[in-house]
Amino acid sequence: MNLILLGAPGAGKGTQAEVISRELGIPQISTGNILREAVKNGTECGLKAKSFMDAGGLVPDDVVIGILKDRIAEDDCRNGFILDGFPRTVVQAEALEKLGVAIDKVLEINVPDDEIKARVGGRRVCESCGASYHIQYKPTKVEGICDKCGGRAVQRKDDAPETVVERLKTYHQTTAPLSEFYKNRGKLTVINGQSSVDETSALVLDALKA
Ligand code: AP5
Repeated sequence: MNLILLGAPGAGKGTQAEVISRELGIPQISTGNILREAVKNGTECGLKAKSFMDAGGLVPDDVVIGILKDRIAEDDCRNGFILDGFPRTVVQAEALEKLGVAIDKVLEINVPDDEIKARVGGRRVCESCGASYHIQYKPTKVEGICDKCGGRAVQRKDDAPETVVERLKTYHQTTAPLSEFYKNRGKLTVINGQSSVDETSALVLDALKA
């Protein structure tokens, strides 16, 4: 099954993608994680992406489409994949169609902006392995230390409040129109993402069975 998760920054796409990945045995492809890794490693792509990410804007379509194309060609995607954070523009969605990628379902996780700010403000991410936590909803066992690898759990640079405001603006202007795009293709299911992680996962898994 080829899936797309849509939703504002911090809506819970990554959290739910992990659950689906475990349930269906297909990989989660997060363009945000791939880009952050590229920035960390100082690759050419990372250097191009960094200033856009730090400012809360989008990395240029051609860069992200190139990354995605290479990733979905890998062996582990043969039985399907979950796109988390791609597409984010109509140009990216059209590029997927041009590549001949058939999408089975698009789940949009809906959370109001105020809740988004609270979630993103409390998020902590492991510097070493990328595991994601929340100081209130999903705390680490030892404060500031990743449960999985013992690395430092820190705030993402683009989770600073002023950058989150920019990311939300970018989302509403540029990514939200994708709901209409996929609704018109009969692929869209909207999920209420305001409840707990487990309750949202139940809604997500039900939507996949429907
Ligand atoms: P990316 O990493 O994709 O960021 P995002 O879309 O802004 O999404 P987030 O990772 O912030 O949030 P999420 O929805 O995954 O929420 P999460 O599950 O972590 O992209 C970063 C940047 O890269 C972009 O700004 C852009 O510059 C660039 N980029 C990436 N893809 C691109 C593309 N295709 N084109 C161009 N540029 C691109 O949850 C958030 C927090 O809330 C966590 O702490 C979690 O524990 C908690 N939480 C989750 N669910 C719940 C719940 N139900 N209740 C309570 N807490 C919850």
